[in-house]
Amino acid sequence: MAIPNDISRDQVDELRDIAERVARRAGDLVRDGRPDRVEVAATKSSPQDVVTAMDLASEALLRDLLGAARPGDGVLGEEGGFTPGRTGVTWVVDPIDGTVNYLYGLANYAVMVAAVLMPDDGVPDPATWTVLASCVHAPGDGRTFTAGRGAGSWLDGRRLELREPGPLDLCLVGTGFGYRREVRELQGRVLAELLPQVRDIRRLGSAGLDLCTLATGGLDLYFERGLQPWDLAAPSLVVTEAGGQVSGLRGLAAGQVMTVAGHPVRTGELMAVLEGAGADGPL
Ligand code: IPD
Repeated sequence: MAIPNDISRDQVDELRDIAERVARRAGDLVRDGRPDRVEVAATKSSPQDVVTAMDLASEALLRDLLGAARPGDGVLGEEGGFTPGRTGVTWVVDPIDGTVNYLYGLANYAVMVAAVLMPDDGVPDPATWTVLASCVHAPGDGRTFTAGRGAGSWLDGRRLELREPGPLDLCLVGTGFGYRREVRELQGRVLAELLPQVRDIRRLGSAGLDLCTLATGGLDLYFERGLQPWDLAAPSLVVTEAGGQVSGLRGLAAGQVMTVAGHPVRTGELMAVLEGAGADGPL
């Protein structure tokens, strides 16, 4: 992935280091501050779509740390929305990706931080952004993924490179489900069509860690409908810098309607099945 002309490799490295530092700090807070019994602080799109006090505390800490390190940058956060900046760089943060896992004491959750450029300094949009640097930190099991545009992606200091998967019927495919009933009904129909055509399906509970797991060879392919910018920004760079493809269906960019990811030799076949099943159809 090329770096935009006006951004140097040193700047990419600096942004990646900041992303890692703040994600680790928030990760410590989230892990060490987890009460024995986590309570739901609020719900969003449905009763299943929960926010814990720790989602809010983690995002507040991320905003403080980013504001101190890079005053004037914008921030888009899952819980706090968009705060425009004046430097051209916006941080896209997910204070806990995999909140339901966190609620239940399952370790597969992450703090995700990415620095993105938008052509018009507007609200970060996966269709038009350039992700410069990112970190996906999983405090529950200690994994830390980092990526810098043009500089590769890494898991705990080990360079990641996507390996070529076998045929589709031997692919292990990760996915996730939305929180709204009508989305899940469509996702259930799509799954019924896809399942007989692949090795198996995994639903691990964090879109970000699904994408990063793909980059380590722990999944062969991934798709999901309903991802938000904060689900996608940080881990998408981990995948593309490892040689993977992240896109939507029918030539569209990855985003809320559909995200498909994997090695470029196999994503086309998955896309064809999903398009045939109407995975991006009306709800
Ligand atoms: C969710 C997780 C889940 C995915 C959902 C996301 P959250 O993020 O990534 O795996 O299936 O689409 O919303 O709510 O835990 O930050």
